[in-house]
Amino acid sequence: MKKIAVIGSGNVGCATVQRIAELEIGNIVMTDATEGVAKGKALDIIEAAPVLGYDVEILGTSDYSDIEGSDIVVIAAGVARKKGMVRDDLMKVNANIIKEVSEKILLYAPDAIVITVTNPLDIMTYATQKCTGFDTNRVFGMSGMLDSSRFAAFIAMELGISAKDVSALVLGGHGDSMVALPQYTTVSGVPLPELLPEDTIERLVKRTVNAGTEIVEYLKTGSSFFAPAAAIGSMVESIVNDQKRVIPASSYLQGEYGEDGLYLGVPVILGKNGIEKVIELELTESQQQAFSISADHIRKSILKLQL
Ligand code: 2OP
Repeated sequence: MKKIAVIGSGNVGCATVQRIAELEIGNIVMTDATEGVAKGKALDIIEAAPVLGYDVEILGTSDYSDIEGSDIVVIAAGVARKKGMVRDDLMKVNANIIKEVSEKILLYAPDAIVITVTNPLDIMTYATQKCTGFDTNRVFGMSGMLDSSRFAAFIAMELGISAKDVSALVLGGHGDSMVALPQYTTVSGVPLPELLPEDTIERLVKRTVNAGTEIVEYLKTGSSFFAPAAAIGSMVESIVNDQKRVIPASSYLQGEYGEDGLYLGVPVILGKNGIEKVIELELTESQQQAFSISADHIRKSILKLQL
């Protein structure tokens, strides 16, 4: 059995642990800096196993040495947005957390593949790679799968059809500058522009860009966690089972899409080695422009990073 560590036992961390347990793809160690939190929540998830039927070991701990030898580490530690905040407002506090967590990963799980989930996502993923020094194929971020899932959910709701038949694609930064690609979004193989008028697609794209904020506004003191956990679970599964799924993820770019030296959401092949290939798609002029704006925003934020 693989060993999967989930750092941070807040809402995202816990939902992720339960999802990974349900998938039965590895034994899990969940940590939290606050003594007792991970232990208590792990017990709660373990006590659901007889009902849900998963058969994996789950350890809750505040001792980082328990992640020793992990094959995959998911970083879900950090502060979440509150009402009125944008993801970038979290940069300073979460960068310090990433730095601390990266040191522990380097010490106890130096061969792990690391998936960062902490916001602001693309910048914290960059910080994780810089702090660990790991090869870029084994440090990446979860965001594009979540954004694409949200776009697909809104399309299914609009058309009154099963979400299962919608395959959507959203690239770019995990924030206001994300780039939805309607021409690569299909319903059972039929391209979205053949099914919905342009203004409706535009409305759904806007809702997708704002989807995280829409939830923060309802919750007021926290952000989404069920859909993020679902996306993380699928990414971990693709790695553990070497599925080579094509999933949008925040990936280090080295010339792809005209960008270099930063992390941004693009479609990748995800297998046992982490990111095995970045897939380059043809974008329209305006999409390429939006992607570059997204990259400029990330580049400016990286300059403010203190690691
Ligand atoms: C979201 O988009 C938390 O960034 C996450 O909901």
